[in-house]
Amino acid sequence: MGLREQLESALLRARRRSIALTDCLDDADLVAQHSPLMSPLVWDLAHIGNQEELWLVRDVGGREPVRRDIDELYDAFKHARSTRPTLPLLGPAETRSYVREVRDKSWDALDASRFRGRRLERDGFAFAMIAQHEQQHDETMLATHQLREGPPALVAPPTPAAPGAGVPRETVIPGGEFVMGTSNDPWALDNERPAHRVYVADFAIDTVPVSNADYARFIEDGGYRRRELWSERGWRHRLESGLSAPQFWTGDGGGAWWRHRFGILEPVPPDEPVMHVCWFEAQAYANWAGKRLPSEAEWEKAARWNPASGRSRRFPWGDDEPDFRRANLGQRHLAPAPVGAYPAGESPLGVRQLIGDVWEWTASTFTGYPGFSAFPYREYSEVFFGGDYRVLRGGSFGTDPVACRGTFRNWDHPIRRQIFAGFRCARDL
Ligand code: AVJ
Ligand code: FE
Repeated sequence: MGLREQLESALLRARRRSIALTDCLDDADLVAQHSPLMSPLVWDLAHIGNQEELWLVRDVGGREPVRRDIDELYDAFKHARSTRPTLPLLGPAETRSYVREVRDKSWDALDASRFRGRRLERDGFAFAMIAQHEQQHDETMLATHQLREGPPALVAPPTPAAPGAGVPRETVIPGGEFVMGTSNDPWALDNERPAHRVYVADFAIDTVPVSNADYARFIEDGGYRRRELWSERGWRHRLESGLSAPQFWTGDGGGAWWRHRFGILEPVPPDEPVMHVCWFEAQAYANWAGKRLPSEAEWEKAARWNPASGRSRRFPWGDDEPDFRRANLGQRHLAPAPVGAYPAGESPLGVRQLIGDVWEWTASTFTGYPGFSAFPYREYSEVFFGGDYRVLRGGSFGTDPVACRGTFRNWDHPIRRQIFAGFRCARDL
């Protein structure tokens, strides 16, 4: 497939998903605020169109604005999520015709681009950036679906099973330098750049994410009552927010757990990676297990470093694009697969499910790599550096492959739970 076709297919796939996430709900559901932590779904959809208009229609395409009057409404920095429902937003029908009109003009820009000259157009970066942006908001909309009350609106086939026992619990990643980040992946975002060498000491890392059964044992063993397992801030947060189990779990008091998942109440599947825990909970669990969270550099070395050649690759399995045999991505399923699934996606040292299933909390705060330069706008990454964010890696079942790779960096507040995040542990040797 040529570059133009690749960009076209990434943009089409994102739009099919945005439409599927919004056409399954009625207008009242689209304009409602399902949680103060989230935007109304119509805001996300119009914001997707507005970002596309700014970059593909006005900038790359050099066209007149479609709707200059709404830029301010859909600027994520101008209005907090909790206040977005009170804004004079476009209604669902108007939003749909707006994003269609913008997309028509983006196709003209895609036809006209030669993919060279300005950095924004080189290798189709602007088009790929906008496809990634839409997919990131689609994942956010999926999290809004998870928070929404009412009957299920989404359906998907079950995940593949794990191929059974025999996977060692942890593996050793030998110490030494590796190349972190990238300078030549054409669609990598600014915070993934540039490539630089990082020394990582010997460490052990779990071959699979922490499961619901593992996490239930932590709860059973008094994990939420034992002050010594928590950091100072974590404990304060645990008390203030009354945390006693992952979000969406309810216990029967006798050790059996149920969870709400996309409108369905079901027993917590013991073998799935735990999800909807905040960074403080992940840290407390790791302490309980006598381990710790991996640093961001450790995670990336486990995911990319090939011990045979010493080189860093795009994915644990090599440089080939993800497919459904290797990773649970792209909302093909509505849940992470059981721990130990996707043996075809494991790293050379036997680490599984680094890509897909659940985002993984790391110990690291979000900063720029040495030599970082903001591109194409400071508000994508740079304004978040040095803030109270923790880095998440690897993508979830709700992350599209266009927005997922071994170098991809996500970040969120350490108290955040509605994202599709879990974790795996590491330890010093
Ligand atoms: C990188 C996922 C933290 O959703 O806030 C979307 C991505 N940036 N629009 C977010 C993003 C601008 C961002 N995360
Ligand atoms: Fe955005």
